[in-house]
Amino acid sequence: MTGAHDGDWDTLWTHVQLATLDGREGYGEIPDGALAIRAGRIGWVGPRRDLPAGWTARSVEDGGGGWLLPGLIDCHTHIVHAGNRSDEFEDRLQGVSYEAIARRGGGIVATVRATRAASEDELFAASLPRVESLLAEGVTTIEIKSGYGLALDAEAKMLRVARRIGASLPVRVRTTFLGAHALPPEFAGRPDDYVDAVCREMLPALAAEGLVDAVDAFCENIGFTAGETERVFRAAGALGLPVKLHAEQLSDQGGAALVARHRGLSADHLEHLGADGIAAMAAAGTVAVLLPGAFYFLRETRLPPVQALRDAGVPIAVATDCNPGTSPLASLLTALNMACTLFRLTPREALLGATSNAARALGIAGDVGSLEPGKAADLALWDIARPADLACGIGLCRCLAVVNDGVRRAPRIALD
Ligand code: NIG
Ligand code: FE
Repeated sequence: MTGAHDGDWDTLWTHVQLATLDGREGYGEIPDGALAIRAGRIGWVGPRRDLPAGWTARSVEDGGGGWLLPGLIDCHTHIVHAGNRSDEFEDRLQGVSYEAIARRGGGIVATVRATRAASEDELFAASLPRVESLLAEGVTTIEIKSGYGLALDAEAKMLRVARRIGASLPVRVRTTFLGAHALPPEFAGRPDDYVDAVCREMLPALAAEGLVDAVDAFCENIGFTAGETERVFRAAGALGLPVKLHAEQLSDQGGAALVARHRGLSADHLEHLGADGIAAMAAAGTVAVLLPGAFYFLRETRLPPVQALRDAGVPIAVATDCNPGTSPLASLLTALNMACTLFRLTPREALLGATSNAARALGIAGDVGSLEPGKAADLALWDIARPADLACGIGLCRCLAVVNDGVRRAPRIALD
């Protein structure tokens, strides 16, 4: 567990129990642990008694016996958006389906109207409380998708707001371009022309502005076909950008196999995933991102094939899918609980799904997601008895402190 060091550190955390979540057995528990930070990175991790003789640290943090874990990672969100869709919630409770709402011009397109109408400042202000709610739960990395702009200017606005969140708040942000989320009204009946605009106009321009870390699409009978999705993936590949996919949420379109063929980072949702898709994901190392909030909120009944994913050795992640239509959820811990209660993940699987496997789904597993020397010092300290507590209750776990890139976050987040 110990890494290369010369025992000369910026900060040493002691009086902590560590859960390294580095894939070793259990949670990677180290009961009386110590963790050293230098230049924003983890310099040393191990049992306190093994600390190298003669270590020095500019400051020593006493963890008060709490559990120190990697900061949590929410690897699938649509957290930047404007508007309100609780009217659709009321309709769905009366039996109207999500598909029917989408087909009548509600759903994603309703959020597109509101997001297009919002200024960049309004969009930032609307998104902040949702982000703060995640951060209060020890989240240190968030993926943020575009996809409610569906035109170059509005997609750029969303992605700039995402970058601004990363610059103004203590959180690492990874952006994903989701231009192929829905067909905007001005392209009604012309999906090919819209996919052309996504591939030839929007994606190259947004990538040139440095706004895109990955590319996603909604491959579904109410979204885009596998053929259209493949065109988006080819455009991403030409720019050297990794891909991921909303796949097999409402029906089996072969999306998981498609994204795996493109060596995709992740296939997300997956309730309708079949054996071919699982085999392709296993072969490609594509992460299965489970989104139990959407399953719960849409009152779905078909479960993702968790046991088959396990048997095939596909890494599993869990995320909030925070969005106004299908998963109005800004609590990653609640998503972990749902993944256990609804999908029968173990708490260990759920926690790996919000740490190391979530990092993998974002292509940043070398950098974050576990307590290992060399990784960024993104940490969360918890007032819990055991790591499983984080997935067991809802609203019960107190996050005592958070560290981003080696810097302890102020207890109350203040904007610059
Ligand atoms: O991940 N599936 C497509 N996109 C979102 C839903 C977005 C919405 O309804 O606004 C999802 O579930
Ligand atoms: Fe989503």
